[in-house]
Amino acid sequence: MWAMSGDGGDFTGRAVLVTGGTRGIGAGIAAAFLAAGADVLVCGRTPPADETALAAAGGRRAVFSQADVRDPAQAERVVAETADRFGRLDVVVNNAGGAPYAEAATASPRFHSKIIELNLIAPLHVSQAANRIMQGQDGGGSIVMIGSVSGIRPSPGTAAYGAAKAGLASLATSLAVEWAPAVRVNTVVVGPVETPALSYFSALVAGLMLFVPVINRTGAGPYYGSRYRVSGNSSHRSPAADVRYSMRIRR
Ligand SMILES: NC(=O)c1ccc[n+]([C@@H]2O[C@H](COP(=O)([O-])OP(=O)(O)OC[C@H]3O[C@@H](n4cnc5c(N)ncnc54)[C@H](OP(=O)(O)O)[C@@H]3O)[C@@H](O)[C@H]2O)c1
Repeated sequence: MWAMSGDGGDFTGRAVLVTGGTRGIGAGIAAAFLAAGADVLVCGRTPPADETALAAAGGRRAVFSQADVRDPAQAERVVAETADRFGRLDVVVNNAGGAPYAEAATASPRFHSKIIELNLIAPLHVSQAANRIMQGQDGGGSIVMIGSVSGIRPSPGTAAYGAAKAGLASLATSLAVEWAPAVRVNTVVVGPVETPALSYFSALVAGLMLFVPVINRTGAGPYYGSRYRVSGNSSHRSPAADVRYSMRIRR
């Protein structure tokens, strides 16, 4: 269940892909774009129980396509599918990501590789495929990376994840320069948001809320929980990245 409000602008006739848009933050983003008039395709590894589980707003619902974005072929296919279905591709939100708790000292090499694959390499593959389409269409396009405060402060228990998110923000700046002006690339740095994924870390996050000043639930600081906003990292700010809204996701 989620509730959302905001002034996302008018995205009527725009086509949006949200990776990992079947639940949590991604479902909220999908709903925001639907509410703003966009056509939205969401992907994930697991199909929803039924269609009603997908994000809906404004009398319309997101379309689901099964894809594991860690597989470059599947990443490319889901990007192409979005463009084929809607006739264009305006916005890609690289939202699929996350990491279970594992101490860096003892986590396996395979675990570390998989975390970096999901949170850094997969968004690169999705972005490459999206850029190829966006460069060739009127109006270009916008790619939004879902970053994390874990990428800008210590991330104990999710060290590889934090490193991947730091890398993702760096990647976005390079892509923004390479692909400008047609394609804009930005990162949204997200603070703790109450999703199923976060429940895993609830005790840890409660501690961080008390002791890590960068996380500020009041919204007065640059990063805040249960609410997120854009930190433009290129001079080519994206209309999509200007979507601002607050949301609360309940389990
Ligand atoms: N929650 C927070 O507090 C928080 C804070 C900072 C940043 N973030 C970031 O925000 C994003 C969303 O987090 P969340 O808490 O909403 O996560 P979530 O509730 O676990 O949802 C993750 C979504 O990604 C999909 N997904 C996972 N692995 C995938 C893969 N290999 N290929 C395709 N889809 C995949 C999941 O579907 P399937 O499992 O079916 O594939 C699901 O739709 C992540 O990038 C996360 O790092 C979250």
